[in-house]
Amino acid sequence: MKSYNIAVIGGDGTGPEVVREAVKVLNAAAGKFGLKLSYTHYDFGGERYLRTNEVLPDSAVEELRKFPAILLGAIGHPEVKPGILEKGILLRLRFELEQYINLRPVKLYDQRFCPLKDKKPQDIDFVVVRENNEGLYTGSGGFVFKGTPNEIAVQESVNTRRGVERCLRFAFETTRKRNKAKKLTLSGKTNVLTYAFDLWERAFHEIGKKEFPEIQRDYAHVDATTMWFVKNPEWFDVIVTDNMFGDIITDLGAMIQGGMGIAAGGNINPQGASMFEPIGGSAPKYTGQGVINPLAAICAGQMMLDFLGETAAAQAIENAVIKVTREKIKSLAAGKMGYSTSQVGDMVAAELTSD
Ligand code: IPM
Ligand code: MN
Repeated sequence: MKSYNIAVIGGDGTGPEVVREAVKVLNAAAGKFGLKLSYTHYDFGGERYLRTNEVLPDSAVEELRKFPAILLGAIGHPEVKPGILEKGILLRLRFELEQYINLRPVKLYDQRFCPLKDKKPQDIDFVVVRENNEGLYTGSGGFVFKGTPNEIAVQESVNTRRGVERCLRFAFETTRKRNKAKKLTLSGKTNVLTYAFDLWERAFHEIGKKEFPEIQRDYAHVDATTMWFVKNPEWFDVIVTDNMFGDIITDLGAMIQGGMGIAAGGNINPQGASMFEPIGGSAPKYTGQGVINPLAAICAGQMMLDFLGETAAAQAIENAVIKVTREKIKSLAAGKMGYSTSQVGDMVAAELTSD
């Protein structure tokens, strides 16, 4: 029997509630597919920080590194200054565990949940490969004359040849594996960011031409990309982009697939501990009410199994999510699902144990 010990960080706000449902569904899938899943829980997040003044001990990073995968709920607490927990937990783990890919599928499961007129599930089915360790997120830069009328703030975008190449290769591989148009779109800003995206564009064509000749290479400026997401999302198969642009376009991607209630992502280190999360935040105003949608966290669990190589179990979870989404759920939004958080988890788990 294959067994995995998963690190679980419920985190802040509704994070623990949605992660509980993801674990429920993972256990149902494990039962069906003969896997043994065990969990080690960590209490990192705002509450712990307010209590102990500790964000993430160094020893925890080393411990987390040893797990095959990490399941994360949400990070962000209304009583903690923005940036402390996000940088101290989420970004720190992304960087130190070298999760250099942020993989965000954008897939519409039911036409009812798409805000775009006349778009159907077959029209909205693409993947964003977001670079996750560089760009504007490294913290490179600084202030000069801070607090004076002459102050200067510089925030630099870091793009290393190595970092860009490994991201591009992952994106080409993802395109190769997907059963779609075999088209990879680089989303950038070559008309203005003439250093950063010059490097990206050259590396994109060099690697594509030499190593992935069967993959069609396509380019779109990032602003135009947001336009196509709304107008012609069916044009996309796989999109690769830098950290900041990827952050922005995947929120739009989440909306066209039905909202934060369903959008999941994986912070991937192909050789190490990867971390899977619903991409919506901690939603503090819904905490403890049992109204938040757990499907995004459940889909994060599905991505985790897929990453671990348990593709049949992952596919079964996706099928169960699709069925519940199409046949049961009234809305993907918090409080409007027609069911409680745990009832939605129960329904997905029931689909996995029904036959
Ligand atoms: C995301 C989030 C994070 C990011 C924040 C919370 C630091 O928006 O995962 O997209 O900007 O990457
Ligand atoms: Mn974001």
